Amino acid sequence: MATLFDTTRIKSMELKNRFVRSATHEGMSDGDGYPTPKLLNLYERLAKGGVGLIITGFASVSRDGKCMFSGMQGIDSDGHIPKYRELVDRVHGAGAKIAMQIAHCGRQTHRDVIGVQPIAPSRVLDTSTLVMPREMTEEDIERVIEAFARAAWRVRESGFDAVELHGAHGYLISGFLCSHTNRRKDRWGGSVENRMRFVAEIYRRCRRAVGDDYPILVKISATDSMRKGITIGESAVMARMMSDMGFDGIEVSCGIGEDRFTMLRGDLPVEAILQTWDIFRKKNVLYRLTMKHFGRMIVRPMAFTQAYNREAARVIRESVRVPVFLVGGLTEPAVMEDVIASGDADYISLCRALIADPKLPERIRGGSKEPSRCIHCNLCLGYLGTRPVACYHGKLLS
Ligand SMILES: Cc1cc2nc3c(=O)[nH]c(=O)nc-3n(C[C@H](O)[C@H](O)[C@H](O)COP(=O)(O)O)c2cc1C
Ligand code: SF4
Repeated sequence: MATLFDTTRIKSMELKNRFVRSATHEGMSDGDGYPTPKLLNLYERLAKGGVGLIITGFASVSRDGKCMFSGMQGIDSDGHIPKYRELVDRVHGAGAKIAMQIAHCGRQTHRDVIGVQPIAPSRVLDTSTLVMPREMTEEDIERVIEAFARAAWRVRESGFDAVELHGAHGYLISGFLCSHTNRRKDRWGGSVENRMRFVAEIYRRCRRAVGDDYPILVKISATDSMRKGITIGESAVMARMMSDMGFDGIEVSCGIGEDRFTMLRGDLPVEAILQTWDIFRKKNVLYRLTMKHFGRMIVRPMAFTQAYNREAARVIRESVRVPVFLVGGLTEPAVMEDVIASGDADYISLCRALIADPKLPERIRGGSKEPSRCIHCNLCLGYLGTRPVACYHGKLLS
């Protein structure tokens, strides 16, 4: 029977246990996306806490792919490679492996950050930010695919043990996969095969750039709560196609930026978001007052439950031939053990549980049955607008 502390291998990457730090934007890079000493220290702390694999916060493959928060990592130039080599060495020195998550944020960003109108498969308004993107041309699509391939090559050159494509949460790749955001009538939209074409082409070019033995992972949103959104059945078909084409692991998440906060079940930290996210700070008084008083009623955030993507992971694992990573709402060691023992997933991916409690894997190894200290208040996300990631629960902030 599989256990949390098995040693496993994904192609060239050997992992000492099944704990993964899921990609978490840290806000600890400089304006050009270079990692700061603070980020290196954070990763070393996580590695010393016992996690087997760290997946970095999303790193932008191009300037127009940056997110709306400051301090995002960048992997859009060869100049980044030496700094990332230092970071990788620090993590290896502390006993963990590290993968870089690469991303293009599509319409989930803002013109003020990237200097141009955000791009997306189709002109569909993001109702949470009121950003209307520009529909991508064939040239845009080719340029972004190439940017992903160059980025993947840099990831391998920097010494990372694997690369993960961010295909979840409404960012650009996920925007192509989901019928709500992809309304195209050409070969990039419509049928599942057509909506998969963008990620398939990115995969093909990344594979050519990194070679056959290098692990390429992908994170997907298996479900969301949009009317025309993605369903478990459809994402199982897509995951099967990803596995068949050669991806080496699939991380199962959920949600997009404008849905009911499904990805981060728990509280919606309205006040912190209105206070620190630029995109909302700049909205008019009426909007801000409405959101302050009725935000929770309008968004109707989904309640937290333990391991909320478990069913999706189980269904997907039955249809693929590669390891499945389960992320979302894992805080209790007994549940983590059961997920692995039952075979519903191969790896336990943790985000908030490790923000609150970076030593959790080591504690569990020592026999602790105590859950992570995270109480899903989501203030770590709420304050991302102006502050680096940290557990802000119980902290008085001005
Ligand atoms: C502060 C914060 C930053 C995040 N940044 C990323 C990111 O860069 N890439 C990503 O794929 N998901 C990101 N996520 C989502 C998490 O990886 C994860 O999918 C989600 O939080 C659910 O897992 P959890 O219940 O273990 O927190 C972020 C979440 C939080 C709270
Ligand atoms: S601020 Fe801390 S307790 Fe709140 S969700 Fe984030 S990690 Fe968990």
